[in-house]
Amino acid sequence: MDFIDIVLEKVDSTQTFAKKTYKTYDPKKITCILALEQTKGRGRFNRHWLSPKGENLYVTFYFQLSKENKSLTAIGLILAIFCARVMSSYGLNPKIKWPNDVILNNKKVAGILSEVEFEKDIANIFLGIGINVNTDKTVLEKIDQPATSIKHELKKELSGAEILEKIKKEFSKDWDKFIKEGFLAFHEEFEKFLAFKKEKIKVFDGQNYFEGILDSISFDGQLNLLMPNQKIKRFSSGDIQAPL
Ligand code: BTN
Repeated sequence: MDFIDIVLEKVDSTQTFAKKTYKTYDPKKITCILALEQTKGRGRFNRHWLSPKGENLYVTFYFQLSKENKSLTAIGLILAIFCARVMSSYGLNPKIKWPNDVILNNKKVAGILSEVEFEKDIANIFLGIGINVNTDKTVLEKIDQPATSIKHELKKELSGAEILEKIKKEFSKDWDKFIKEGFLAFHEEFEKFLAFKKEKIKVFDGQNYFEGILDSISFDGQLNLLMPNQKIKRFSSGDIQAPL
């Protein structure tokens, strides 16, 4: 799969920009919108994504998939795997906090925002990723949840461009596998990176909180929570709080 790059000095959000301009992109390629700074970076559940200039990676991948693709909703989980693989290549020990946060030592280092717009038989995918590459401790402390950066963990600066190239390589290597087999082909690897497995967690489904044990991830990427009544409750989206 080929990539077309769009590099922006400063933008409100690469996600918002992509949604406004995608009709001008080549639908047969992956368009990669990279910004050096975002003034209105967006996270999941309408949260703000702190995006200071020049230190980190703020990227949206745009591509089209068939509406029939069974793993549309799991695309963010697959990008989290790619990101975790790249961090492992630097000797780090990344884990994935379901559905698609990448964490190091229980602190968030990368977040993924996956949005879809349907159009006839096509799904337009806007897959955003923010990675704290070179954020210093003083900035990390301003984030409203425990956060870290690669620099803080490795004690050295890394090139955001190099990390992005490595993520693109993972995309290219596994694109056909994803199209043909969907999330199923990545399920085992996802569970290998899964944080808090068999631990007590709280899941927020956008409205309510549910407490239980993180049992497993199903073959389509949903989370299986073992409830106090010993029944399994399945979540297709949500947010985990852990450790409790
Ligand atoms: C989350 O963890 O809540 C998701 C964060 C996603 C942030 C990225 S940064 C690039 C892209 N543009 C945005 O406005 N958001 C995503």
